[in-house]
Amino acid sequence: MTLWSGRFTQSLDSLAWDLNLSLSVDRRMAIQDVDGSLAWANALHKAKILSDEEHGQIALGLASVKEEFASGKFSFAASDEDIHTAVERRLTELIGATAGKLHTGRSRNDQVATDFRLWMLQTIPLLNNALKDLQSALIERAELADQTLMPGYTHLQRAQPILLAHWWLSHFWSLQRDRERLVDLTKRVSVLPLGSGALAGTPLSINRIELAKSLGFADVSQNSMDAVSDRDFAAEFLFCSTMIGIHLSKLAEQIVLYTSAEFGFFELSDSFSIGSSLMPQKKNPDVFELTRGKAGTLIGLLTGLLAALKGLPSTYDKDLQEDKQSVFQATDILLGVLPVIAGALRTITVKPERMRAAIDSFMMATDLADYLVSKRIPFREAHAITGKAVRAATEKKIQLDELPLEAYQTLSPAFEADVYQVFDPVKSIVKKNAIGGTSPQSVKKQIELAKSNLTLIPSPLGEGSKSKGE
Ligand code: ARG
Repeated sequence: MTLWSGRFTQSLDSLAWDLNLSLSVDRRMAIQDVDGSLAWANALHKAKILSDEEHGQIALGLASVKEEFASGKFSFAASDEDIHTAVERRLTELIGATAGKLHTGRSRNDQVATDFRLWMLQTIPLLNNALKDLQSALIERAELADQTLMPGYTHLQRAQPILLAHWWLSHFWSLQRDRERLVDLTKRVSVLPLGSGALAGTPLSINRIELAKSLGFADVSQNSMDAVSDRDFAAEFLFCSTMIGIHLSKLAEQIVLYTSAEFGFFELSDSFSIGSSLMPQKKNPDVFELTRGKAGTLIGLLTGLLAALKGLPSTYDKDLQEDKQSVFQATDILLGVLPVIAGALRTITVKPERMRAAIDSFMMATDLADYLVSKRIPFREAHAITGKAVRAATEKKIQLDELPLEAYQTLSPAFEADVYQVFDPVKSIVKKNAIGGTSPQSVKKQIELAKSNLTLIPSPLGEGSKSKGE
């Protein structure tokens, strides 16, 4: 028996039944379905649709159902089409016909959207915490890195020296934006669709604002048709997840590169490396490669849902049943990946000597041009003169700091003996002292600011607190 078989004379084709089933996916919202149902029963009671006795029975019955889910003792029946059906079927077994009054004025259309939003409101903090822990790991690494220098790259070509701490923190800020996005998303998830009925609204005098409050929602939807069709929050959640995945993939790609023998900047701890079944010497960065790969899967989940939403006629269409699987999968991917990356970064070994050795004097070419600028030569001209110095050194197969003073002076009389000081990478770094630069002083402030930014928290009631520091 389904919830809807009344108007049919023939039973559903068994393969069509299988196609229609969503229990294997939406059973994940069991607790939310019971909580939403209890809140609805309370609202029906207040609206005098349920007597005290009926309400008492339903509330007690739902408490038992919830307990069965919590203890893993709930047993599903072959007739359970989805989680909503399963809950109502079990409630009927427990309390009898009164259970049939629970669905008064409600539709699975407003119910499923409510369950899904509730589930998401409870899941966003888990994601936030996992992100926050990874951010903490990055701050720890930045503090440990202290004054360690490394080459900074653009186009993956050696560009300018930076502090390793600055590199670690560059990944902190992208994750901070991801957490800000989750906080912002929370506002739009925290809108209650319950009380919208199938599409036109509920005929009962339900106080929806009270109902929202009782479930922890900040607001109620203002249009029942929009409320049952709106899956923007799911698409946004997938975008937020995908962006996190993309940020992680960029970090992962660099760890893969930097742990290679060619770079040798880092070595992974054994606990986060995978061996090869054939080549005994291999110590592979599989966890970072998987992270990189899963970003692709996340992009697919996002575009898949967007495509399902495109062109849908008004209100509820069964296409919408496709929304949950992708959101659940994205959540599982991130909750699986984030702690592993945090652990791998906390245990990675830095090779400061390899990083230092990769900084050559050509990376101070900009400092050389700046030296000429300090001697009042316009930057464009200084850039051209420095370019000639680079060419001269490259042709002689020597470093820029090995080019004799006479050679420099033939390029410009502004060069003096003090020119060789510009090739000290520490001096180069110290100069980048404006906010956001890689100077030790600036990075120290950045670490403090990063720590104070960790206090940002998503809250369904819109109290997402945010501390940007000064
Ligand atoms: N399993 C459905 C879903 O996930 C629940 C809503 C069903 N509504 C309906 N009109 N058949 O979307």
